[in-house]
Amino acid sequence: MGRAPVQTGSVNGPDLAPAIDGVRLTLHVLAATVWVGGQFTVAGLLGTVRKLGPEAPRRVALAFGRIQWPAYALLVATGIWNVLAVRVGNASATWQAVLWAKIAVVVLAGLGAFLHQRARSKVGLALWGAVASLASVAALALGVLLAG
Ligand code: HEM
Repeated sequence: MGRAPVQTGSVNGPDLAPAIDGVRLTLHVLAATVWVGGQFTVAGLLGTVRKLGPEAPRRVALAFGRIQWPAYALLVATGIWNVLAVRVGNASATWQAVLWAKIAVVVLAGLGAFLHQRARSKVGLALWGAVASLASVAALALGVLLAG
């Protein structure tokens, strides 16, 4: 499904996406790099951050939160733009099922990150952190499938 076929008349292979599609998907993927990539980057830096002092992990998490949530908002906004831009009515039942599955994991990713940031126990931190990152990777993979 994904992007509407580009009418080029050329049979020699793919052509560039229309500029507006390029802007829409660039914003969507850029936000995905911050939301998904940021979670793994912060997790990867945590060992070193812990050596900077007892307050450092919480302060780094708060600082990441200040860019993480605007990225999530941009993902939802450009996600809705994606849905409006592609002709969902013409989409196969499978494509539509993947879209709904994606929206479900996006909600789960947001809920997981929200509860992770408010967790007070090590188990809560680990559980909701895992839910947030796994659901985010699932959203990314389903997005690539939708793009066709
Ligand atoms: C954690 C949140 C999200 C992540 C990580 C994410 C990631 C992605 C990625 C990587 C693509 C593929 C882009 C490409 O290959 O060109 C994509 C496409 C897409 N996403 Fe998302 N997305 C998220 C949220 C959403 C939401 C909330 C919606 C709908 C409300 C949505 C709807 C779509 C659609 C329809 C496409 C296909 C666009 C096209 O082919 O033109 N996404 N997404």
